[in-house]
Amino acid sequence: MFKSISIVSTGSPSTLVLGYFKDAKLDKASASRDIGGVAAAALTRTESTGDLGTVSEAYPATKAGSKNAITRIMLVGLGAKDKFESGSMRAVAAAIGRRCVANKETGMVEIDLSGALGEVKKFDAEAGAQSFGEGLGLLGWVCDHFKGTGQKEPIKRLPLKVKVAAGDVAQIKRGVAIAESANFCRTLSQTPPNVATTGWMAQQAVKMARQTGLKVKIFEGADLEREKFEGLINVGKASENKPCMIRLEYRPAGGGRGKPAILVGKTMTYDTGGLSLKINNGMVGMKRDKDGGCAVLGAMHAIATVIKPKRPVIALLAVAENSISDEAYRPDDVLTYRNGVTVEVTNTDAEGRLVLADALCWACEKENPAYIIDLATLTGGVVVALGSTYAGMFCEDDNLRAKLEQASKASGERVWRLPMHEEYRELMKSPIADILNSNPNRKAHPIQGAAFLSYFVKENIPWCHLDIAGVHATESNKGMFVDGPTGWGTRLLAAMLDAE
Ligand code: BES
Ligand code: MN
Ligand code: ZN
Repeated sequence: MFKSISIVSTGSPSTLVLGYFKDAKLDKASASRDIGGVAAAALTRTESTGDLGTVSEAYPATKAGSKNAITRIMLVGLGAKDKFESGSMRAVAAAIGRRCVANKETGMVEIDLSGALGEVKKFDAEAGAQSFGEGLGLLGWVCDHFKGTGQKEPIKRLPLKVKVAAGDVAQIKRGVAIAESANFCRTLSQTPPNVATTGWMAQQAVKMARQTGLKVKIFEGADLEREKFEGLINVGKASENKPCMIRLEYRPAGGGRGKPAILVGKTMTYDTGGLSLKINNGMVGMKRDKDGGCAVLGAMHAIATVIKPKRPVIALLAVAENSISDEAYRPDDVLTYRNGVTVEVTNTDAEGRLVLADALCWACEKENPAYIIDLATLTGGVVVALGSTYAGMFCEDDNLRAKLEQASKASGERVWRLPMHEEYRELMKSPIADILNSNPNRKAHPIQGAAFLSYFVKENIPWCHLDIAGVHATESNKGMFVDGPTGWGTRLLAAMLDAE
């Protein structure tokens, strides 16, 4: 929504933003910044409910022609005081940013929530400032390069100039930077499949790696045969856009500490369903079937530019287009993986697990992982189960799960644990090969996906599968998001590596 975002601590604002809690008056410090009592008066109006993310305005009387004057006070509702936490600052930032856009604000906007926030018990001010930056940065996302000359008027975007206390500048900027990584992910997600082909995804990864100092390698063509990437070869067969495996590596200065974290992303540049073709409206939106990989690229961007963890991090993106042609892989085919597991294909629309299996096998065998986390828009079933509120999480390792839950709390990207049980793994048994890629009995689809993947992870390696099919995009235009991709996963993974 913004042309740019600048965070400064000096200069003359034209708008002042103060905060207040539900069922509370202006705190003392904020009241001392009220001009002629206009803010206090505004809080007596019915629209001033104090609900989190609501905004009321007050207009101090200003002399005509007077410069450097505050002409507007924005009063942002902070909700119930005992519910307020650092993550609430994302909603606060989004509400302020949206109002600035509506106001066509061109001046400087001073944010002074210190009075109100001073009243919150155990408020983590650093995390709060970072969240504020994230909220602004995510709201700021712009992706209009597919707008053409058919628009009557080009969309005008204004720069946002924010003034804050000097001590908050660095943390807010950090939040904006992490949002930029998530926005990189969102722009990739938004890019249509005729542009964002498999080769294009590889180019983007290479470009990003060069810019941020990551190592990058693309496995393609004969490399795939040599490495026995059976899933990629088969799923990608029908498309003129050839499959590849992207490997990115972050090495901390001085070599770092510990075994590498492995991040795996399903990167289906388009999912037609293959010969088990998707029907009716099931196909639109499948350009976003690459969002697991996009989130991992965003996370690697954040890791290289902001987080810089002590632990090495390796990303593996399994990239293919699931298309149809006379060369397409088919239901009834049997695939043999590099770990020896054989798979009977029953449904070519359960393709994500087939390409993820390549990355998981490779990671276990070649990368000496501390742990593996994979992100995938894997099943429609998880959308039915959890909607767009939580990602489905499968993780039987208590330690890794605790770390992810902590990161989830810090980032606001919610995860909900779903069960794994030997019976689900048995559901995947095939009469012909070892396992099926999908049991046609339609039972517990999201768990079937995870159960399938578990055949490709060595038992002693901590592993988490995140099914993000419900959370990677939103249709609503509210808070810090607009209709489109959310960048889900980039911030969760960044927060996880940040805490290690
Ligand atoms: N990419 C889809 C899952 C999906 C559905 C993502 C809706 C985002 C929104 C995946 O490849 C798929 O087709 N899954 C099938 C699995 C089934 C054939 C076992 C599904 O969920 O129907
Ligand atoms: Mn599919
Ligand atoms: Zn898919």
